[in-house]
Amino acid sequence: MDKYAVFGNPIKHSKSPSIHQQFAKSLGEQIDYRAILAPIDGFEKAVATFFEQGGKGANVTVPFKEQAFALADELTSVAKLAGAVNTLKKRDDGTLLGDNTDGIGFVNDLLANKITITGKRLLIIGAGGAARGVILPLLEQQPKEIIIVNRTAHKAQTLAKLFTEHGNVSGYGFDDLPQVDYHLVINSTSSSMNNELPALSSKYLSACEMAYDMFYATQNTLFMNWVSEHNKAAKLLDGSGMLVGQAAQAYYVWRNKMPDIVSVVTALKQGAL
Ligand code: ATR
Repeated sequence: MDKYAVFGNPIKHSKSPSIHQQFAKSLGEQIDYRAILAPIDGFEKAVATFFEQGGKGANVTVPFKEQAFALADELTSVAKLAGAVNTLKKRDDGTLLGDNTDGIGFVNDLLANKITITGKRLLIIGAGGAARGVILPLLEQQPKEIIIVNRTAHKAQTLAKLFTEHGNVSGYGFDDLPQVDYHLVINSTSSSMNNELPALSSKYLSACEMAYDMFYATQNTLFMNWVSEHNKAAKLLDGSGMLVGQAAQAYYVWRNKMPDIVSVVTALKQGAL
């Protein structure tokens, strides 16, 4: 049976093994997919051992995505611009390909939810790794503009500069954010993890058609509730679709088959995985 794994620290609560088993089942395949706790200073060794023992592919999560980026023999263009790798694939010649499926997973989730990106102005809150990973796949959908807003303004500006040759992207702090229509508002900060809200004024929500919290939750996050208080019309999404979407894209990278996402998102949200 082909062997796969997800590496992280911590890893106990990872949903990836159940998600990938659901994918395999729905495609009539059998895979061996486990969660591996790599020591904080032992990621490279753990990955090397896994692939020496016949592993075909691996997912990588916090805090090892940058180390996986450094470890890969070759990187996809998406991984290069994301500065991080969440999917490793052992190729027939023995080399490791590093990819990043977070952004495609995110975009596919938006599209599956019938959200139009083309021609829209997007506001991304936060300028960390999560934001960086989605910008290129979003630009490929040709939005009107992407504006990044961050508590630490210079990080938003630095991040925006990485992408200016690929599209219309700019960065601001919360105090100097332009008052224009933002159609899609995306929270990429880790604030929901601590049950906090980013310091964004609700005046920026008036044209919001959809608000997305990348945090995965079985119920609405504080951010989603805050948006709905100020804009009843906005569609609300959390990160479950992105979590399943990035996994589906990894499955495709490894096995050249695209699993169905919707049924697995439903199971995840019902707490069945
Ligand atoms: P990740 O890889 O998950 O994106 P990260 O690189 O540590 O994590 O980035 C976390 C992001 O969440 C940053 O943009 C951070 O803002 P700063 O750059 O100003 O630190 C943002 N963040 C975290 N908690 C926040 C909060 N309570 N309010 C606003 N932004 C927050």
